[in-house]
Amino acid sequence: MSGRPVVVVTRRLPAAVEEAATREFDAQLNREDRPLTAAELQDALRSADGLLPTVTDKLTADVLAADPLRTKIVANFGVGFNNIDVQAAKARGIAVSNTPDVLTDATADIAITLLLMVARRAGEGDRHVRAGAWTGWRPTHMLGRMVSGKTLGLIGMGRIARAVARRAHHGFGMRVLYTDPYPPPPEIAADLGAEARSSVEEVLAESDFVSLHCPATPETRHLMNAERLGRMKPGAYLVNSARGDVVDEAALVEALRGGRLAGAGLDVYEREPQVPAALLTMENVVLLPHLGSATEETRVAMGLRALENLRLFFSGAPLRDRVA
Ligand code: DGY
Repeated sequence: MSGRPVVVVTRRLPAAVEEAATREFDAQLNREDRPLTAAELQDALRSADGLLPTVTDKLTADVLAADPLRTKIVANFGVGFNNIDVQAAKARGIAVSNTPDVLTDATADIAITLLLMVARRAGEGDRHVRAGAWTGWRPTHMLGRMVSGKTLGLIGMGRIARAVARRAHHGFGMRVLYTDPYPPPPEIAADLGAEARSSVEEVLAESDFVSLHCPATPETRHLMNAERLGRMKPGAYLVNSARGDVVDEAALVEALRGGRLAGAGLDVYEREPQVPAALLTMENVVLLPHLGSATEETRVAMGLRALENLRLFFSGAPLRDRVA
């Protein structure tokens, strides 16, 4: 026994993070990178002092009912923590932390990537060239839509949305609208050139592009349902780099089929890694495999931040990124 806290790390992490985890803790790494089953997560909760899970680990109330319980902290690797039933964790005396800030820019970059790709038909164009179908330049070939100067509507105005607003307004001269029950201070919104609207519907009615940045909660589940998709401007585009649950995928398929929306850019899905078959055949949809925070720099920073949360917790210091 090393006397150091036992920490189960549920997935492979960048080497620098695994090395740091091994130096500081009695870290049990997942060398095969196979997602843990509910039973394996419960074993971890029974045998480890801390858990370092990711978005793919569903820590439901049932899983968190593991008995006897040894785990005192769940240090989630990610900013979203909808994979954890935080109320159940709290009820069992388990602290929960996440890794905010460090993935803001990477995720904002992916939202802008989706927006540009879908508007400029980049995925379709890439497939066209690879298929050997390109016959040469011509004035009417594969025309997309301008992003510069258009109106971007942000649903949610937290850290990532603000970083998207900065890029869109200062980089592409976009008019930016937003709605959020907890809006930013007026001087921050002014600096981003962002105008508040009092409801999701008001944002949808004016926006050429709508980008989702709200957390996944019971209240935001299927926030973009058939009714709200129908409130978007005809020919508008939807971008989702938040969480799949926020969009009713079946309704989105219908809105795209009916031609109401010009296209969609998605990084997240309701039942990852499953993607609705209908979307796979649509040229006007860009589909990424949940790459929001997927840069080397960001994933290392996320891992080190999760380790810092564990370190703080085990040293008895206040937990900076505590969410429960
Ligand atoms: C997060 O932290 O919410 C990211 O989506 C995980 O990659």
